[in-house]
Amino acid sequence: MNRTGRYRLGVLGSGKGSNMTAIAEACAAGKIPGEIAVVISDVADAGILQNARKFGVAAEFIAPGKYRTKLDEDSERTYLERLRAEEVDLVVLAGFMRILKGEFLRAFANRVVNIHPSLLPAFPGLEAWKQALDHGVKVTGCTVHFVDQGVDNGPIIAQEAVPVLEDDTPETLHARIQVAERQLYPTAIGALAEGRITVKGRRVLWKR
Ligand code: GRF
Repeated sequence: MNRTGRYRLGVLGSGKGSNMTAIAEACAAGKIPGEIAVVISDVADAGILQNARKFGVAAEFIAPGKYRTKLDEDSERTYLERLRAEEVDLVVLAGFMRILKGEFLRAFANRVVNIHPSLLPAFPGLEAWKQALDHGVKVTGCTVHFVDQGVDNGPIIAQEAVPVLEDDTPETLHARIQVAERQLYPTAIGALAEGRITVKGRRVLWKR
């Protein structure tokens, strides 16, 4: 715990920020015993920044640098400095479209979480809802997991199943998954904030 005595979240996102909004609402409602300290985006006009400001949360664009799929070294250092300055306890990836690498993950070892729109290990990577539809599965869902060096690979904290309907389009399926995400992610973050989560190898255990 940092010197503010509050469990502090640093949220990184590239998109519209519906997960960040659900997390901010859960903090305000006391369902997460903590607060969002800062929201950072690699996209200057991302909805997540505007949404964060509506909650009075500090929101910043930090340029990602020269690569397309990851932060370059200078940028990664700037992200780290910002999160450290805010005394962040947990880094929450909420639609952040860049891979985080060694130095970042070492600095926040076991303290970076992500939400992925499928039941991992099925359908890692981009547009997981579309992968699920194309594959013809009848059930998909969402997964909250710790972030490690692999892509969508770290220990699984929580999962929620979502049915695939016969008349689904990628858009309708993604929307149904996102409804489940907005429940699951705040629940998992709340449990982390309360210290009810322990990790044993790949297995994540909940104290209920
Ligand atoms: C979510 O569907 C999440 O699963 C994926 O990116 C999307 C972010 O959406 N990682 P939003 O910006 O939270 O609305």
